[in-house]
Amino acid sequence: MIHICPSILSADFSRLAEEIKDVESKGADCIHLDMMDGHFVPNLTFGVPIIAALRKHVSIPFDAHLMVEHPDVYVDGLAKAGVQYVTVHQEACPHLDSTLQHIRSAGMKCGVALNPATPVSSLSCVAAQLDMILIMSVNPGFGGQKFIPYSLDKIREARALLDSVGNTEAVVEVDGGVNADTVQSVKEAGATFLVAGSAVFGAADRAAAIAALR
Ligand code: DX5
Ligand code: ZN
Repeated sequence: MIHICPSILSADFSRLAEEIKDVESKGADCIHLDMMDGHFVPNLTFGVPIIAALRKHVSIPFDAHLMVEHPDVYVDGLAKAGVQYVTVHQEACPHLDSTLQHIRSAGMKCGVALNPATPVSSLSCVAAQLDMILIMSVNPGFGGQKFIPYSLDKIREARALLDSVGNTEAVVEVDGGVNADTVQSVKEAGATFLVAGSAVFGAADRAAAIAALR
């Protein structure tokens, strides 16, 4: 089942509630929330209070992508805010097994994101306990970048890894440079959660953009 997950990084930050209501009404399946701390990535966005304030404005799931150095600090707050998916970066988690247990025990689905240079094999030990692997198809930090072609191999490897441990329920998400030109190839590679920032929020007709991605 394809899920289209618009990233609010490319929304109008002065009108976030209206922006998420707009994409929900135009067919989005979840809202992708890029939390950045200015340390793990060279950009700073928003944190738990803003996510909590947005929650009541839409009913589709919230998919939080934590590009932060110390994700554990935010897990309980995100659960309280009503977030459904929490994805942490492999590169930011020296105690990844423990962080994943923390997310699940807080009642949320857990994912791990991999930067372009981080191999899928780094997740072999935890693959059975994941709900999602997020393949970053750009270097994280900014919207509107160009899709890195070797990400397609990583999407295939991530799907194969999950299947090899019998975790067929877990999904592969792709994030960065997903648009009308790249969407077919990411689906063929096995991604079912498709994050799109500029391709949705930057489109004149957002309903058509979401339908085209699906
Ligand atoms: C980048 C973020 C993405 C970003 C994608 O670090 O994780 O979610 O918003 O933007 P586009 O779809 O424009 O590449
Ligand atoms: Zn993201």
